[in-house]
Amino acid sequence: MKFFIDTANLDDIKQAYDLGVLDGVTTNPSLMAKEGITGDANVKAHYKAICDIVDNNVSAEVIATDFAGMVKEGEELAKIDDKIVVKVPMIKDGIKAIKYFSDKGIRTNCTLVFSAGQALLAAKAGASYVSPFIGRLDDISHDGLTLIEQIVQIYDNYGYETEVLAASVRHTMHLVQCAEIGADVVTCPLKVITSLLNHPLTDSGLAAFLADHKKASQK
Ligand code: E4P
Repeated sequence: MKFFIDTANLDDIKQAYDLGVLDGVTTNPSLMAKEGITGDANVKAHYKAICDIVDNNVSAEVIATDFAGMVKEGEELAKIDDKIVVKVPMIKDGIKAIKYFSDKGIRTNCTLVFSAGQALLAAKAGASYVSPFIGRLDDISHDGLTLIEQIVQIYDNYGYETEVLAASVRHTMHLVQCAEIGADVVTCPLKVITSLLNHPLTDSGLAAFLADHKKASQK
């Protein structure tokens, strides 16, 4: 399973990359705004800075919501670096834009997916990734993980190459359950990745090993 980090924060991206387990980055307009990145030139420079840290797969989202606008923006984003994946919202013109980009060999991530039908449409249009938002479904008392199961099953049934990118992953159980289901990718904040390290038996076990080693060395 690929691990993407869901942030536009360069320090967090560096930390996850230094851990040696990072396969990509997803951003969105809210995450860019959180870092105070505004204005076309600054946004592009920031995406380039992210691409310079990681090996591949940097999702950069279009702001336009009409076909022509998404195509123009997406083509500009794709020119920043080969690592860019153009992130397109799941709307009618978005599906048309995904088909356009797919025909041109530009990779896409179809975002804001909340149903299996939407995911099927994204795959048919040729999206490279589909992003079902599981945490936001859980927030409204729907089961986000069931949606991941449905999409994995549908894509398997027909051999779609679109990768299931579980998004809005809020905690380690989300991540582990996505892995059990067979999601291709998860994207989550740094804290979710580093929380995978934690187990109290690891901490107490290591403390005991070190204490025993110290005692034996003092004999
Ligand atoms: C995915 O690409 C989105 O940026 C993200 O996972 C949304 O997560 P949130 O629901 O925690 O904002």
